[in-house]
Amino acid sequence: MKWNETLAAYDAYIFVTPEYNHSIPGALKNAIDFITPSVLAHKAVGLVGYSFSAGHRPIEALRLILANFTTGVVGAQVNLHLATDFENMSSFAPAAFHDVEVPAMVQAIVAQDQALAALR
Ligand SMILES: Cc1cc2nc3c(=O)[nH]c(=O)nc-3n(C[C@H](O)[C@H](O)[C@H](O)COP(=O)(O)O)c2cc1C
Repeated sequence: MKWNETLAAYDAYIFVTPEYNHSIPGALKNAIDFITPSVLAHKAVGLVGYSFSAGHRPIEALRLILANFTTGVVGAQVNLHLATDFENMSSFAPAAFHDVEVPAMVQAIVAQDQALAALR
């Protein structure tokens, strides 16, 4: 399947999700349900969430779902709030503190990838 072939070509991923009814959108869950678990095994994953609640709940939902894939989901995450990180709740205009938060998450993903490489 093209989706799994595309994912298999990478060692690390960043999942970006909005919040729908305190969780992830059904479309994202459906896409994840089509992933062959071995494709994500021992890969590094970072999470970004956005919503009127800064995407905390969908990120926590993703952590539970991805636990089934034996992935290395890093603790560092990026939470974007529709009221403070977007102009008119549409144009992306992130607050300054994300300039620190995003590289911290990426560094954690790179470190996780290097640690997990031996298991792949
Ligand atoms: C069906 C639906 C449910 C939503 N549920 C929540 C919610 O529970 N909490 C929240 O903060 N925002 C909620 N939102 C707002 C979305 O997180 C927000 O509109 C987001 O920008 C949608 O991203 P998208 O346009 O990329 O799908 C919901 C939006 C939709 C359409």
